[in-house]
Amino acid sequence: MIPPTDPKAAYFAHKDEIDRAVTETLDSGWYILGRQVESFEREFANYVGDAHAVGVASGTDAIELALRACGIGPGDVVLTVSHTAAATVAAIERCGASAYLVDIDPVTFTMDPRRLDEALGSGASGIRAVVPVHLYGHPADMPAIMDVARRRELLVVEDCAQAHGARLDGRRVGTWGDAAAFSFYPTKNLGALGDGGAVVTKDDALAERLKALREYGWTQRYVSTEAGINSRLDEIQAAVLRVRLRHLDDENGRRREIAARYDEALEAASVTRPVVRAGAEHVFHQYVVRAEDRDELRRHLSDHDIGTQIHYPKAIHQQPAYAALPQGTLADTNDAVARVLSLPMHPHLTDEQVATVARCIAEWRQRVEV
Ligand SMILES: Cc1ncc(COP(=O)(O)O)c(C=O)c1O
Repeated sequence: MIPPTDPKAAYFAHKDEIDRAVTETLDSGWYILGRQVESFEREFANYVGDAHAVGVASGTDAIELALRACGIGPGDVVLTVSHTAAATVAAIERCGASAYLVDIDPVTFTMDPRRLDEALGSGASGIRAVVPVHLYGHPADMPAIMDVARRRELLVVEDCAQAHGARLDGRRVGTWGDAAAFSFYPTKNLGALGDGGAVVTKDDALAERLKALREYGWTQRYVSTEAGINSRLDEIQAAVLRVRLRHLDDENGRRREIAARYDEALEAASVTRPVVRAGAEHVFHQYVVRAEDRDELRRHLSDHDIGTQIHYPKAIHQQPAYAALPQGTLADTNDAVARVLSLPMHPHLTDEQVATVARCIAEWRQRVEV
């Protein structure tokens, strides 16, 4: 079986280093907000290129707390995409705001800045922020999104859950907006061995507010200046993340190498391969093809023990919990949902496994044509 993703392989790839870091943390006797979290926050902020990183309990919390720290709350509307994880919208709603869904650029599957402009002209009131999502590891069109946002005085919180290390015009995702949210869910490019997340920002005051919000609103121990929650990155996960951060660039490099092999092997196949926009450095959290007969292709691969996934089988506006959200036209989102297929992608795939997947897709095409 070739699995679509493999968190166990990710652990075994650096097992000795991780085991040592975890044992050291266990032996330290300090398990919440200590040396490991502080060090990871410093190292991750350095890596991304922002002044601060604040560790929290998940990527969903990171989006919620980033929005809250920016002052977004009840009565506010936040523009985001429908082609994303439910977490993006759940976080917007949890901070008390409501989401307005805009369409994607069908080539990169990320927010279409023209649709953002259209949404702003729709007459919807209370729009205060934008959450672009760097989906699959491809950066959203941040120069154009920032241009619209600055013209309309909107705050921008980037959802970087799938794009650790990706760059646009030489600049990492996470450094474009007012704040950015990362997830360290185990299968992410930078994954913990459990849940975890972080907010990065250049803004000193925002970072201070985030540190309070993640811990009951405390500005000093046992004194809540405002209402907060409990959303702390724990020491053990931070220790694991410090190890894995040291390997992130190499692993992203391997993902790109696998993507190049898929690209080459699928050149003649009847699927549309991912496109990397000029100036973008994709980190291939997923390698997503578009296929007219996606479900048949998926069945064929499964019959040959190749696991695939669909990100996502339903867009946000197609889900019962969110069907009533205000939205622009979502034609490109609807089209993507029906055709996208994520091939196996993680840095520990062997060249042979990649070749097997590509061969299997090529065979399927021949079979269809017979
Ligand atoms: C695009 C996107 N946003 C947000 C999240 C939420 O992250 P977490 O699962 O750590 O809460 C995820 C992860 O599933 C995601 O893929």
